[in-house]
Amino acid sequence: MNSLTFDTPDARNRLDHMAQGVIGKPLPRPDGPLKVSGAATYAAEYTAEGCLDGVLVTATIVKGRVTRLDEAGALAMDGVVAVITDPRLTTRSAQGTAGEAPAQHLPQVDYWGQPIALVVAETFEQARDAAKRLVVEYDADATPPVSPDDPAVEWKPKDAKTVRQGDLAHAMREAAHAVDVEITTAGHASAAMEPHATIAQWDTEARKLTVHSSLQMLNYNLPELADSLGLEEEQVHILAPYVGGGFGSKLGISAEGVAASVAAMQLGRPVRVVMSRQQVFQCVMRRSETRQRLRLAADEDGRLTGFGHEGWVTNLPGEFFAEPVLQASEFLYRGTNRLLLNSVGRIHRVTAGSVRAPGEAVGMQALEVAMDELANAAGIDPVELRLRNIPERHPSKDIPYSSRKLAECLREGADAFGWEGSDRTPCRRREGEWWLGTGMATAARVHNFSKASARVVLRPDGTAEVATDMTDIGTGTYAVLGQIAGEMLGLDPRDVLVSLGDSALPKGPGSGGSWGAASSGSAVYLACEALREELCDRLGCDAADLTLKDGFAIAHNQRQALVDLLGGESIERTGQVEPGKTEDEFCQAMYGAFFTEVAVNAYTGETRVQRMLGTFGIGRVLNEMTARSQCQGGMAWAIGSALTEELAFDPRDGHLVNCDLAEYHIPVNLDVPHLEVHFVEERDPAASPLQAKGVGELGICGAAGAINNAIRHACGVRVHSFPMTPDKLLAALPDP
Ligand code: MOS
Repeated sequence: MNSLTFDTPDARNRLDHMAQGVIGKPLPRPDGPLKVSGAATYAAEYTAEGCLDGVLVTATIVKGRVTRLDEAGALAMDGVVAVITDPRLTTRSAQGTAGEAPAQHLPQVDYWGQPIALVVAETFEQARDAAKRLVVEYDADATPPVSPDDPAVEWKPKDAKTVRQGDLAHAMREAAHAVDVEITTAGHASAAMEPHATIAQWDTEARKLTVHSSLQMLNYNLPELADSLGLEEEQVHILAPYVGGGFGSKLGISAEGVAASVAAMQLGRPVRVVMSRQQVFQCVMRRSETRQRLRLAADEDGRLTGFGHEGWVTNLPGEFFAEPVLQASEFLYRGTNRLLLNSVGRIHRVTAGSVRAPGEAVGMQALEVAMDELANAAGIDPVELRLRNIPERHPSKDIPYSSRKLAECLREGADAFGWEGSDRTPCRRREGEWWLGTGMATAARVHNFSKASARVVLRPDGTAEVATDMTDIGTGTYAVLGQIAGEMLGLDPRDVLVSLGDSALPKGPGSGGSWGAASSGSAVYLACEALREELCDRLGCDAADLTLKDGFAIAHNQRQALVDLLGGESIERTGQVEPGKTEDEFCQAMYGAFFTEVAVNAYTGETRVQRMLGTFGIGRVLNEMTARSQCQGGMAWAIGSALTEELAFDPRDGHLVNCDLAEYHIPVNLDVPHLEVHFVEERDPAASPLQAKGVGELGICGAAGAINNAIRHACGVRVHSFPMTPDKLLAALPDP
């Protein structure tokens, strides 16, 4: 085992001097052809002998309890095998209740759409039919708060993250230019393409559970599932080799996985539970809607003297998570007088959790609107305003930045886009019915680095295998880990088999928070480092003298095929990395800049994004193609956040109204122009041994703000409520 606690930055730039030359290259994903040809097997697609189908029944009240559930009626229907109302299935989040289940359990309800029962039948159609006809009676509470606008909602500060420094109110009074603005963002759904799905198989004799499920973090999902079922971790095996998108919604286990497992254990037959699209929307996870107040105080030259960012977000009573909207505001801009305060209100909507860059996705888009208003108030080019406000050190922790190419991204992005920032006067350009304008914003997202391990085997035939429980949720893990091993071992990445998504393999942090590639990749790197040492021993050379390329080992004047060095045997090493002092000693984040051009219809208020460009600094780029795709994906989501995406809850009964992809509007091809992505050259020795930072979520963090700023430039309308739907623009548009 090659173990590293990451206490000291690694500035050796080793990966820049390897012979194979595959790191960073835009190599296609090995899983791509399998996915597009249907050969990749997703959770619901496995065949299991005698598999039953289960359909979840969900609550149709917001809060209260179930008083009667007519199981007999359902059980009398064709093919129905069981109606399960186990408390382990109806807990609203991943904290399950262990132990024996009572035979009949009448659940408490905390939100509309909460799973309360599972109907299991021989076929999916029979289960669905019976689930629809199941008679459920409730005792509903009179007026639970279902909206953040309900005056009964109690707001409590999320204290741990509060920053109070200097005197913001005083700075605002003394400021040459000040902005005090309130911005709201709508709730979002992850909207992954693959619905949540699980097939559970219980081996009655061995007392072992095998679960095919669509999940992001097996290392955490294993104890979650074991705990909720009252099993030991050793009794549970989770498989998730292919995941059709997660975006946060599959970070934890969800109701269908627990329900399928409970049913399989109870009935002694495999059980498949696939959520309907509506159920995914109603009972998995939402991004909280937010209200944010930004106060920016600046001197004559636009330098920030005061910086205030307050947020109001919601969740169910008792839930820990609070959309961390202030996350980038902690470190991004100057201002010695600071107030950062996030408050949580308790309302009865489906659990709020991580959705696509929790925090910065909506926090940055609000902050960047406020920055644009400050630029306009001060008469300063918005790019220049941001350049003037890059702090030397973390503004409240007084620590250095590990690497930060924000200024380069702003400048290079402006050049590549052809930014003409000086004239921000609106309504200057018109083409037919359309007002045209440009806008920009900063991108910022915290870099997360997590404990990870991976095994790498050099096989007798000179190929390699990488194995870890890490997942690939569409992000490119298969490609990137193969490239790292290929680079380190001197192999064509096509000769590296990457095995992922199996909880029995060495544990990694899974896919979330943009930490996957840098964390798991570092574990692969360390395993390969140990393999290289072993090869050095066999060749009798020093590490510095070893070159591995195209399946050959070269040291001094010897050149030997790996196959010969291996002599018919394989060599196996495990690498493990965990965060250390570098995490606390440096402020670590990814940065970038967005530039966009929009057209706003002078008659209808419709906005079309015409051009969009992002320039990003993400440390070492591990695969130029997958990194680019990640950034493009983020920018596409930002178009949704800016213009169309909004969870709509009925204020009368709290139910989610738009719970499918027809009514919840994510951007489609025609909404998304060509998205231009540039990377600046960067190495971050403190972010990971690979000198790579995260990338997955960066593309969404701020981009909707750039669209808002472009709309204002186009037609003079400043919208303070996202999404900026035509109705909000129509009300304020100038005479066409
Ligand atoms: Mo992410 S929203 O941390 O999967």
